[in-house]
Amino acid sequence: MFEELTLEPGGFGYHDHGAYGIVFANVDRTRIVKVYRTCQDWEHAEKVFKSEVEAIAVASADRDLRPLTASDLIARSGCSLIDRDGRDRTDLIFGDLAFEVSFLEGEFVKLNDCPGSEADHLRGLLREAGIDGSDDVSVVFDATGQVRYVVDFAMTKSEQQWRDGAL
Ligand SMILES: Nc1ncnc2c1ncn2[C@@H]1O[C@H](COP(=O)(O)OP(=O)(O)O)[C@@H](O)[C@H]1O
Ligand SMILES: [Mg+2]
Repeated sequence: MFEELTLEPGGFGYHDHGAYGIVFANVDRTRIVKVYRTCQDWEHAEKVFKSEVEAIAVASADRDLRPLTASDLIARSGCSLIDRDGRDRTDLIFGDLAFEVSFLEGEFVKLNDCPGSEADHLRGLLREAGIDGSDDVSVVFDATGQVRYVVDFAMTKSEQQWRDGAL
């Protein structure tokens, strides 16, 4: 559904999406931009955005997490979307709720779908770093079954709790 979109500035092409964001990659697949979708209300999207950006910064400064997480975080603002026919589709995103970070290669799977000691170990590392929101985490496993890469974590806990007004 978002496949034909291009993110400007930069001409990043569609890569993947989730409930909160659409992820675009540059042509040489070294950088991605995650931009937050307008299917959430602004207040909620902004909270999730801030919590995720802070968590990436915290992970980048953590000895154990740094090798597993995307690096060189840059805030993005004024993002817009163009479809294949040149039509503006910026209505799909909050163009100021976006960040750019390194591209992590591999097949991402939901951590919660992969029970086991590796998953528990990773949740422990995140918690020790003060990152409590690991419910949505996706990971890439290496050939030996160890976690190679991690995305989609936040400082504060469940996004559902925000929605319910508990946080
Ligand atoms: N740094 C990255 N490098 C490569 N792919 C990524 C990166 N960040 C996210 N992705 C891809 O985009 C998908 C959606 O990103 P995610 O952060 O999980 O969004 P959401 O919060 O909407 O669930 C991920 O499952 C993954 O496939
Ligand atoms: Mg996700």
